[in-house]
Amino acid sequence: MPTFRFRFRLRKTAKYVAKFTGIILITLLLVYYFITTSNHQQGEEIHADSRRIFFHETSGRGNLNFKQCCAVESVAKHNPGRSVQLLISGDRLDVSNGPWMDILKDHYTNVEIISVDNDKYFSGSPFELWYEKGEWRQSRFRIAHLSDYIRLVSLYRHGGLYMDLDYVVLKPLNEKLLHNVLLVEGIDGQQLNNGVMHFEPGHRLINELIQHLAVEYDPEDYYLHGPTALTNVYLRLCSSNGTGGTKKKSSMCPDVSLLSYKHFCPIGPPFWHLYFENASDQSLSMINSSYGVHLWNFLSSNEPIRMGTRQLYAILAAKHCPVTAKRFDQFIHPT
Ligand SMILES: *[C@@H]1O[C@H](CO)[C@@H](O)[C@H](O)[C@H]1NC(C)=O
Ligand SMILES: *[C@@H]1O[C@H](CO)[C@@H](O)[C@H](O)[C@H]1NC(C)=O
Ligand SMILES: *[C@@H]1O[C@H](CO)[C@@H](O)[C@H](O)[C@H]1NC(C)=O
Repeated sequence: MPTFRFRFRLRKTAKYVAKFTGIILITLLLVYYFITTSNHQQGEEIHADSRRIFFHETSGRGNLNFKQCCAVESVAKHNPGRSVQLLISGDRLDVSNGPWMDILKDHYTNVEIISVDNDKYFSGSPFELWYEKGEWRQSRFRIAHLSDYIRLVSLYRHGGLYMDLDYVVLKPLNEKLLHNVLLVEGIDGQQLNNGVMHFEPGHRLINELIQHLAVEYDPEDYYLHGPTALTNVYLRLCSSNGTGGTKKKSSMCPDVSLLSYKHFCPIGPPFWHLYFENASDQSLSMINSSYGVHLWNFLSSNEPIRMGTRQLYAILAAKHCPVTAKRFDQFIHPT
């Protein structure tokens, strides 16, 4: 009898222990879930990583259009060993407007889609005052200006290769070459481009640029905070008397290199329409040694894409963002 009772109690205790442990486990899981999802909102799961390639979508729409999706896919496809981060500003991610998220998540394990709460992202950064003062919100260039500023916060905090969303990448990006690097824009070689740049976290050039832009802001100027400011800060820092210019191949800063426009902008802005015309031997040979092509979206955004034709962009999309290209019809296109 006593053994039976003892066993009975033991069984009861075991039941309670199991129940109790279960409840604790579930609670822990819930706490973990809430912590990770709230961190997700703040973008705090991003770590310093010079190898990452990242994008910012700052329109607030919460989704990617066809060309943007193609840009991210082309990078993910050609760089499977590197983390590709897509940072999307806005209240929520919108999956009702095209299959962008399925394409990137289902086919590319190296892509991370991160929702960014701008308030939290700028908080504690040197741009906090700029952001909160809010003059930029009144600007007709607010999306571009937000983009110019937020990429610098990201570069300074976590490093990596930043790219605008109006590129198509044509081959693996060389990590040695594209390290602490700026691209010279245009054949005259007078300006630096802020659409593709790589820096290690905490780089002094980005720090200088941030200090400069934290106080210099003009809501009416489209270029000032991008290429113009970058070029001026570069010249001040890396060209002893300011006249060295950006034409010289070598930079006077050992920790900043310059790269020819040919690597990402083989077709200059006056000829942007070549991407939307039928490919020719000439246009194909212009881009054939480039890492990527810049579509100059501010000029070309409304140009129709004709998938399945000889249009240069359609050919590049079919080859370098094949999943996006196949699902062309499921995106909403400008009419
Ligand atoms: C500025 O620097 C360049 C090259 O570093 C040099 O050739 C030039 O003479 C310098 N100019 C002045 C005014 O010092
Ligand atoms: C680039 O074009 C040249 C001549 O047009 C050709 O010989 C070469 O094979 C091409 N290179 C690539 C990588 O396609
Ligand atoms: C472009 O190529 C398409 C076939 O893909 C052809 O139907 C069209 O006529 C061409 N357009 C021009 C301007 O050559």
